[in-house]
Amino acid sequence: MSEDLIAAARQVRENAYAPHSGFRVGAALRTVSGVVHVGCNVENVAYPEGTCAEAGAIAAMVAAGEREIAEIAVIADSPAPVPPCGGCRQKLAEFAGGEVPVVMATTGGARLGMTVAELLPGAFTAGHMER
Ligand code: THU
Repeated sequence: MSEDLIAAARQVRENAYAPHSGFRVGAALRTVSGVVHVGCNVENVAYPEGTCAEAGAIAAMVAAGEREIAEIAVIADSPAPVPPCGGCRQKLAEFAGGEVPVVMATTGGARLGMTVAELLPGAFTAGHMER
């Protein structure tokens, strides 16, 4: 079922705002209820203020009242599938179990599948704040 997510990520990538890097990224996630939410990167001239595609999809999901990711796809026009940045791995871990598949794709057709736990081993969780 990843292909429909990749198609949604590919489509939303067209709306990415990336004038500073020229690197447009699209993300699409499916929640456990089966709904798909999408996001694209939105850059800013003050570079650190930019947001990643994954963060946009997560924000759309939460705004829609959902909190559990079942699968996510990310796509970019890169030579090899682009993995989520470190910050996005932590953002994904907030709303996805370690077993959740992350499908990385290129516009050229390459695919790489990993789980959230593989992308963020030893993740900091709420359990670490228990006393
Ligand atoms: N970017 C994403 O949106 N997601 C990723 O997984 C990797 C990087 C964006 C951030 C920035 O707008 C551009 O790609 C270059 O880093």
